[in-house]
Amino acid sequence: MESPLSTLLDTPLGTRVVGRAAEVFDEIDSTNDYALQHGTDGLVVVADSQNAGRGRMGRSWHSAPGLGLWFTVALEGLIDGVVFAAALAVRDAIAPHAPAKVKWPNDILINGHKVCGILAEHRDGITALGIGVNVHHTREDFPKELLAKAGSLTTESDHPWDRVTLLRDILKHLDQKVILLRNGEFEHVRDEWAEACELRGRRIRCDAIEGVVNDIDAKGALLVETADGLERILSGDLMLLDGDR
Ligand code: BTN
Repeated sequence: MESPLSTLLDTPLGTRVVGRAAEVFDEIDSTNDYALQHGTDGLVVVADSQNAGRGRMGRSWHSAPGLGLWFTVALEGLIDGVVFAAALAVRDAIAPHAPAKVKWPNDILINGHKVCGILAEHRDGITALGIGVNVHHTREDFPKELLAKAGSLTTESDHPWDRVTLLRDILKHLDQKVILLRNGEFEHVRDEWAEACELRGRRIRCDAIEGVVNDIDAKGALLVETADGLERILSGDLMLLDGDR
């Protein structure tokens, strides 16, 4: 039996910032919206389901009850690199049990299937770092249009996942990265994230742009050598054109 989400902070996390407090909901519109309105530094907002979960690029985020980890960490101020920190934290929490990879700009994939997405938003001095992890979905739980690209920790591994254990692990990893960023170690976090993306030298297409990735710049943008010269891409839907490696 899985532990209820309400037990998240029953045992101290041992973190300094992330998870200082938590609010747990059965259902909410979006944990990001709640964090933007009521967030304090380090507050974790987690819900069993969201009825208006939001994804990147104005998309909605499928957040059915009992299946995933839908949560937001509120942080005071604008923190450069916080999305890189989140991607690394999720990867590091999953990695002991399944081969999780960071997909630029901020998805986590296992076996080529997206199991996690990240949406950072900022309003009135609060950053809402929203993270959605597909945990218990079977293939039947995904809407048809997502089936080719999406997966869950359960569809992609044999590990018996417990949402509270996983969330606690993610929060601990994230806390370490947030502390690094607040101590001025942006480069360190960015370099680790850029390495994890494994894109240098890869042939890619991102929306209308096609070419070979030269580098990832200080802001996390791809520098892509195309037939028409160097292009800089800050975000988009990335496709690898040279197969799995
Ligand atoms: C993406 O499009 O890949 C980002 C998805 C982010 C989803 C999470 S779930 C928790 C938080 N609340 C939201 O409404 N969105 C984020």
